[in-house]
Amino acid sequence: MQHNFGQKDASFQAAGQFPGIEKLVHRFYDLMETLPEAQKIRDMHPKDLTTSREKLTHFLCLWLGGPEVYREKFGPTNIPRAHAHLKIGIAERDAWLLCMKKAAADQAYPKQFQTYLLTQLSVPAERVRNSD
Ligand code: HEM
Repeated sequence: MQHNFGQKDASFQAAGQFPGIEKLVHRFYDLMETLPEAQKIRDMHPKDLTTSREKLTHFLCLWLGGPEVYREKFGPTNIPRAHAHLKIGIAERDAWLLCMKKAAADQAYPKQFQTYLLTQLSVPAERVRNSD
């Protein structure tokens, strides 16, 4: 079946706008805190994940074609630069994507949107990789 997720704010709508994306990000970080495969990347983050949760939520709103509140709150976005101080290899990239895959599966998203979201996110996930 055809979809238009890449057009205008179609992905932002499919993800449930701000409340849906906030739920996705909370689930994502909750999984990062509990999955053994993600322990190493969890430990790269601050102890208190409040700001990380807020930043990723606003970033994904913008990235999925929604409002650009991220820029107002946090300034310009440069995802590779935001991760340049971290050592991210294949295992770290895959752990991040695993949390996102499971988080997306736990939302009431159509399968087609889940697949689309993960395929799209694998692009910046590969771009932040700076080792291996
Ligand atoms: C691939 C493996 C990844 C790892 C291990 C990782 C890890 C991290 C860590 C440790 C932080 C710092 C958290 C903080 O200071 O609050 C961070 C920040 C952030 N990450 Fe990632 N990340 C990954 C991929 C991604 C991807 C693919 C995206 C976007 C699609 C993303 C979006 C963000 C954003 C928006 C921030 C906040 C940046 C800022 O300080 O302005 N990350 N990430």
